[in-house]
Amino acid sequence: MATRTQNRSTTRSASNNRSTNRSSGNGRSKQNERSAFSFGENAGPVLGAALAGMAIMQGMESAAGDWDEILAAEHDMALAIFDKMLATDETQTFKRKMLLMKLTHALDKHAHQEEMVVYPALREANDRVTADQLEQEHGEVKTFLYELGNMPADSSNWLETVREFRSAVSRHAHMEEEQVFRAFKQGLSEEQNAKITSLVNRDGFWMA
Ligand SMILES: [Fe+2]
Ligand SMILES: [Fe+2]
Repeated sequence: MATRTQNRSTTRSASNNRSTNRSSGNGRSKQNERSAFSFGENAGPVLGAALAGMAIMQGMESAAGDWDEILAAEHDMALAIFDKMLATDETQTFKRKMLLMKLTHALDKHAHQEEMVVYPALREANDRVTADQLEQEHGEVKTFLYELGNMPADSSNWLETVREFRSAVSRHAHMEEEQVFRAFKQGLSEEQNAKITSLVNRDGFWMA
């Protein structure tokens, strides 16, 4: 499967240096005590706003394309993480653990979007059997994640397990993209399609 180019620019603003404009009635000004790593007493709301801004940026980025394109791009992203895992050797235990964390997060977010939006929509369109089969396969994904999470990162089985896991995810993704989603989308009105896209984006936003 062709891997799409990832276009997730990390537009992280480093502007946490807003001056606090509070009146210090008690005279305990700490302006001069701040180190380069101190955000001051009122940093909570400022940091919160910055984090919310970053999340909104991510949400906006994921808004590009219809729901099936968003999910297909996420498939490619997960498969690319698998490829990085398969390129490691048993001495790179830290890298393996980091990649596994990244994969777990990506698959968790993705499964949530499908299980909370797309599969229920499929059931509503009378394709319950397919939705149930796909959801059951997500259970197998979780089992692989559990297995890898409990396996030492330098285990002789690690690569083989990742390889099996990748091919299960690849088969599942292929079935979704080529059969299920394509056929489902063809039967949707423009309005229904837009609604599913918006729900997938909203779910992905909260899971980001
Ligand atoms: Fe799926
Ligand atoms: Fe999927």
